[in-house]
Amino acid sequence: MRRPLVAGNWKMHGSRAGVEALASAVRDGLPAQPAAEVLVIPAFVHIPDVARVLDGSAVLLGAQNVADASEGARTGEVSAGMLREFGCSHALVGHSERRTLYRETDELVAARAQAALDAGLTPVVCLGETLEQRDSGKTAEVVLSQLDAVMNRVGVAGLAKSVLAYEPVWAIGTGRSASPEQAQEVHALLRGHVRGQHAAVAEELRILYGGSVKPTSADALFAMDDIDGGLVGGASLQADDFLAICQAAR
Ligand code: PGA
Repeated sequence: MRRPLVAGNWKMHGSRAGVEALASAVRDGLPAQPAAEVLVIPAFVHIPDVARVLDGSAVLLGAQNVADASEGARTGEVSAGMLREFGCSHALVGHSERRTLYRETDELVAARAQAALDAGLTPVVCLGETLEQRDSGKTAEVVLSQLDAVMNRVGVAGLAKSVLAYEPVWAIGTGRSASPEQAQEVHALLRGHVRGQHAAVAEELRILYGGSVKPTSADALFAMDDIDGGLVGGASLQADDFLAICQAAR
């Protein structure tokens, strides 16, 4: 049995006061024993404030990216060890905004995932095709090559300590979610690919769906066999919406 995970990716939004209020509202709005694990992912500079708010609660804390090395001359990067020291348990790697706007390659994403694992941080590895790739029938090829790049680097043992997030690029921030069936098809493909390497790891691996998840769409998405929760952007900035999505993951 895979326990669902719902993660709120706050991206580059919020002020100190706003983010503290949001973190408090999420903390206070969850039941004592939520069925799903809940993770919030603020911008780097907000991590210490949010860590203080979440201290002693069950809400997990993550970062939006992590350096591909443990330390050294890497201006502008933040290492997994630093994130751990501030209470993070997870880090996104390979978000499509990083891949597209900042030209992060499959190799760099894989190195980031490995560096996270080396420091005991759980990488949430984001994968997904563009609309053009989907329309030209390349979805499977794209997501499997993104997955292979990470799997080849971290091995099946590393994958067992990771989370995957399927996020079709055309669904992110567009209000146009993949249908539950479209998402399920890709999730099953990803899990099947991992099963080819290691059946038990495939069964345990959590694969989140991301891309315009809303309170109104979460139930149907999370009901699918291979969808183990969500990576939520826009709707995670409203505590009530995010809490409703968390409730939908059982
Ligand atoms: P969205 O973002 O929910 O606003 O589409 C999801 C994400 O980018 O992780």
